[in-house]
Amino acid sequence: MILPIVAYGSPILRKKAVEIDKNYPDLKKLIEDMFQTMEASQGVGLAAPQINKSIRLLVIDADGYKEDEPTLEGFIKVMINPTIIEFSGEKILFNEGCLSVPGIREDIERYDIIKIKYQDQDFNTFEETYSGIASRIIQHEYDHLEGVVFTDRCSVLKKRLLKSKLIEISKGITNANYRMNFPNKK
Ligand code: CO
Repeated sequence: MILPIVAYGSPILRKKAVEIDKNYPDLKKLIEDMFQTMEASQGVGLAAPQINKSIRLLVIDADGYKEDEPTLEGFIKVMINPTIIEFSGEKILFNEGCLSVPGIREDIERYDIIKIKYQDQDFNTFEETYSGIASRIIQHEYDHLEGVVFTDRCSVLKKRLLKSKLIEISKGITNANYRMNFPNKK
């Protein structure tokens, strides 16, 4: 089932999401729905708050970008209860967008390397290190679980320039070609 994506301005995108355990109801179905929703909107990652659930769950499928970026081949992940335990390497600028913020792309600075601990959909625990674009995608989705949207990481000046556009998005003034829920739509 394709779920509507929550737009910028929704309070749920500002909440710190909570951990879940294996008793969380219909988790398998929710994960399937998130993959389907992400595919329908041509995203590479989706965090649960973006489909209106404030839980620590994110999905990633960047395999489609392997032609341009061979390191992304097979990069398909479900991460439950993730914690980034270390940031390292250089800070790098890279152009980001977000399904909750359609029509806006900005260069965002982030650390190159992360060490992350998480559980998969069977609640097996992993500790892994990522760099490059894979690390970038994880950090963006992880931010959603912390109540952070990528535009928060822009400079003060850039944020000022984006302000009216972000207000428009919250009102539903956007040309996103996938289903969304807008907090301030009349
Ligand atoms: Co996003």
